[in-house]
Amino acid sequence: MDVRNLEGQVGVVTGAGSGIGRALALALAARGADLSICDVDEQGLEETARTARERGRRVVCTRTDVSDAGAVADFAEKTWNELGRADVLVNNAGIGVGGPFVDVPLEEWETIVGINLKGVVYGCHHFVPRMIAAGHGGHVINIASSAGFIAAPGMSAYTATKFAVLGFSESLHLELLDHGIGVTAVCPGIINTSIVRTGRMYGPDATEERREEGVRAFERRNYTPERVAENVLRAVQRGRVVAPIAPEAWVFYYGKRFAPWLVRAFLRAVDRRQRRR
Ligand SMILES: NC(=O)c1ccc[n+]([C@@H]2O[C@H](COP(=O)([O-])OP(=O)(O)OC[C@H]3O[C@@H](n4cnc5c(N)ncnc54)[C@H](O)[C@@H]3O)[C@@H](O)[C@H]2O)c1
Repeated sequence: MDVRNLEGQVGVVTGAGSGIGRALALALAARGADLSICDVDEQGLEETARTARERGRRVVCTRTDVSDAGAVADFAEKTWNELGRADVLVNNAGIGVGGPFVDVPLEEWETIVGINLKGVVYGCHHFVPRMIAAGHGGHVINIASSAGFIAAPGMSAYTATKFAVLGFSESLHLELLDHGIGVTAVCPGIINTSIVRTGRMYGPDATEERREEGVRAFERRNYTPERVAENVLRAVQRGRVVAPIAPEAWVFYYGKRFAPWLVRAFLRAVDRRQRRR
């Protein structure tokens, strides 16, 4: 899809109240798209909407929990009622859960699968058939993660959802080719957003001190969501199906392909070092 000029088109973004979702929504708006955006954080959503409106875009905001299929159906309905179409669908809303498998309660699995995986499925389920019926093509961007192809210890729940999003997206890509709808699964890397601060942690390392260390590490890396958004749209322009974004995501992507044992040894060494501290 040509995403250099999106005048007259509509971008749909879930989890647009913060981080990568906000940056992607504003990047679409900067290219001329009107927006239909949702989040559970209404204040964050309003801030994103205000910035896009200041740039002259029409914006429809909906408080939507993406893990609720009915709410996502309403979000799609409202999008069509008020803006009449969807051209770029970004399934971005997501949460982080960290901790050893044995310490993560089952309810947390239900929550993270509901948001990170089913949220993406519901977004596609309620928007893609309408995009196909409209017949003007488009693009689906599913935000996965490098945890969609590498499996670090202490992240089994998050990793399970992101592997699933990656596989789902690759399958969907082949199905939608004949409809002129592209699909890109995005694997960002270490991005400076609020995900570490808001993520839920379990087990012996679930301390405020450890969380602060994580937040500081992401801040030091300082790869911004705005930079992610620009590189995502570049990947869409190039028709990439799987799009690692930051350099570390590319290193892990090729590392997993050509030396998976080395990636596993590295992840284990990092984990052991962290646990010794
Ligand atoms: N930050 C990173 O390093 C990183 C790396 C790889 C992938 N990702 C993925 O990027 C996506 C965006 O994360 P981010 O880093 O921008 O984090 P973020 O916390 O800044 O943004 C996530 C947004 O999703 C919203 N959200 C959470 N649960 C929701 C729900 N049930 N319904 C609707 N909205 C909901 C939050 O309110 C928030 O606005 C996530 O899918 C995340 O897994 C992030």
